[in-house]
Amino acid sequence: MLIGVPQEIKIGETRVSMTPSLCRRCVKLGAKVLVEKNAGVSAGFTDAEYRAAGAQITNSARKVWREADMILKVKEPLPAEYDLMRPGQTIFTYLHLAAGPELAKVLLRKRILGIAYETVEGVDGSYPLLKPMSQIAGRLSIQIGAYRLQSQLGGSGVLLGGIPGAMPGHVVVIGAGNSGAHAVQMAVGMGARVTVLDVDTRKLEALDAEYRGRVVTLMSNPANIETEVADADLLIGAVLIPAAKAPIVVTRRMVKKMRPGSAIVDIAIDQGGCIETIRPTSHEKPTYLEHGVVHYAVPNMPALVGRTSTIGLTQATEPFVALLVQKGIERALNEHRGLAAGVNTRDGRITCEAVAKALGYA
Ligand SMILES: NC(=O)c1ccc[n+]([C@@H]2O[C@H](COP(=O)([O-])OP(=O)(O)OC[C@H]3O[C@@H](n4cnc5c(N)ncnc54)[C@H](O)[C@@H]3O)[C@@H](O)[C@H]2O)c1
Repeated sequence: MLIGVPQEIKIGETRVSMTPSLCRRCVKLGAKVLVEKNAGVSAGFTDAEYRAAGAQITNSARKVWREADMILKVKEPLPAEYDLMRPGQTIFTYLHLAAGPELAKVLLRKRILGIAYETVEGVDGSYPLLKPMSQIAGRLSIQIGAYRLQSQLGGSGVLLGGIPGAMPGHVVVIGAGNSGAHAVQMAVGMGARVTVLDVDTRKLEALDAEYRGRVVTLMSNPANIETEVADADLLIGAVLIPAAKAPIVVTRRMVKKMRPGSAIVDIAIDQGGCIETIRPTSHEKPTYLEHGVVHYAVPNMPALVGRTSTIGLTQATEPFVALLVQKGIERALNEHRGLAAGVNTRDGRITCEAVAKALGYA
């Protein structure tokens, strides 16, 4: 099998889908690896390291796409890459198709075997390839939010930790999963007042037990959300319904009631966002102001910390990549149900029910 590792082209992206150590393992297992020149540089990996690990380097993205049996990527293919895909090729990457109808059409037209990181399942039904990036995005959301609250940037001028004698900032996190729980951890660490809401009581119970009253846990329903959002200095959107478009849990009316200069970080933007006023932004222009509230919605937040994110991502993908190389794609998918759950498109059809529903194919 020839694995192609193209350089990521999404604005501000710094991650790469394969480290030299994963490359070495794939080569040992019998694969050939073709890496685009400088693909790993922004994550701190040089072409020389990939060469030493057995990869071939090319300065042509076209060659990588044309020759690879399997393209290993980080972010979903962008329009500039649509023409490069070879019909029938396998692409293993984040796809986020529920929020990407155009990409879905291309994958169907080209009969791509699209295996989406975000729907690959662990034995316990968890999403092991989503987890590390969600942890990173959750942690980053608080440092980004704290920064955006600064007066000079148009924020309300609230210091999340406060000082003795002055109220700390109020951080409201909606969704207590991987990203939400890590946002809570950082917010508590900074000394903020923290409220977290979820529809899953087990998630709330776990956080309640962990923080012993230091964090307020609330059932996520419209009444609770409305009250908490109105008092939030920093609102974090962290909900997920696997593979589906994110539900809108915060309405425009609620955003209008927030204090001027308060901030929203909608981590769930890659699935469409869970706040009515949100639209995707990029690392080049990460925020916009609406109803006096700062909105941040970058779909590839982990790119801010490319080194940590690349290590986190590839240590999660490694067992699956190794399986695909060792057994071959068909056998690996037949024998590993969790990996098979990652298949979103195949032979011109959408094979993931939630994605098909979200895009109106079901
Ligand atoms: N922007 C980025 O750079 C970035 C990076 C990583 C992950 N993400 C995205 O962040 C989102 C969250 O991922 P995760 O790994 O934390 O998911 P997760 O499954 O671990 O957690 C999601 C939580 O949302 C809860 N939820 C569902 N509906 C809800 C509702 N109506 N109200 C409150 N809570 C609700 C679930 O019960 C669950 O606890 C996903 O869309 C993921 O793709 C974005």
